[in-house]
Amino acid sequence: MRFLMNDTLNMNSIVTTGDADAAVEHVRKFVFSSGVGDAERLEIKIPELMQGAYSFYTWPCAPILAHFLWERRQELAGKRILELGCGTALPGILSAKCGAKVVLSDNCILPKSLAHIRKSCQANMLQPGLDIDVVGLSWGLLLNSVFRLPASLDLIIAADCFYDPSVFEDIIVTVAFLLERSRGAKFIFTYQERSADWSIEALLKKWKLHALPVNIDDIGKGVDLLEAMGGHTIHLLEITRIEEEDVGDI
Ligand SMILES: C[S@@+](CC[C@H](N)C(=O)[O-])C[C@H]1O[C@@H](n2cnc3c(N)ncnc32)[C@H](O)[C@@H]1O
Repeated sequence: MRFLMNDTLNMNSIVTTGDADAAVEHVRKFVFSSGVGDAERLEIKIPELMQGAYSFYTWPCAPILAHFLWERRQELAGKRILELGCGTALPGILSAKCGAKVVLSDNCILPKSLAHIRKSCQANMLQPGLDIDVVGLSWGLLLNSVFRLPASLDLIIAADCFYDPSVFEDIIVTVAFLLERSRGAKFIFTYQERSADWSIEALLKKWKLHALPVNIDDIGKGVDLLEAMGGHTIHLLEITRIEEEDVGDI
């Protein structure tokens, strides 16, 4: 893989908070730029707790998905987007900053994670409940929070949520339900390759979903995605519903 340096995605600026918690909490800065004289530039600040649970720091899949979205920023304005398992929520926050109407979600049994997501929003001048929504949504559970989501989503996004095969079907069920409610919507997610034995192919078939791999060589022109990936192999998939009329075409 080779990347030209026309665009910049700067992920390494660490700004410590300067208080007693500085050893464990820092704010990580991500800079997205059009590269052409920096005509368009977006800086996102993500508070992280490195010794916290999974949801308190930004996994390598998140900047990859964020950059994919940044490259499509013109299409994001006004789109209704839901992020699943958002953790520190870099892709969702970027989407909101680009004008999308965003709902960030993470496991409803993790109130501290949900509070941390609100903190991430506030660090980027997004007021939860006003500029962006934060909800508890646990995969595989069709609780009230799912039914209160906007009826017509355009996009569901997720970064690094397929890390434990025991919850793959829970994610797929949730996505299948949401895509059925929001006809024409897509589920776009990045995942890190952790085992060649893991597959969601059978689940996609069972839940009548169709996957299209997106070549990540094509995204992040000019960005050192290899650095962003931190030595991991990351893929991007786009999932849509197989409509009745499509059966037979696949
Ligand atoms: C590996 S982290 C990825 C976080 C973030 N998307 C990123 O890429 O930086 C997985 C995320 O999924 C969330 N999660 C785990 N199990 C979940 C479940 N059953 N329902 C909803 N979210 C869940 C975790 O709380 C965590 O935020």
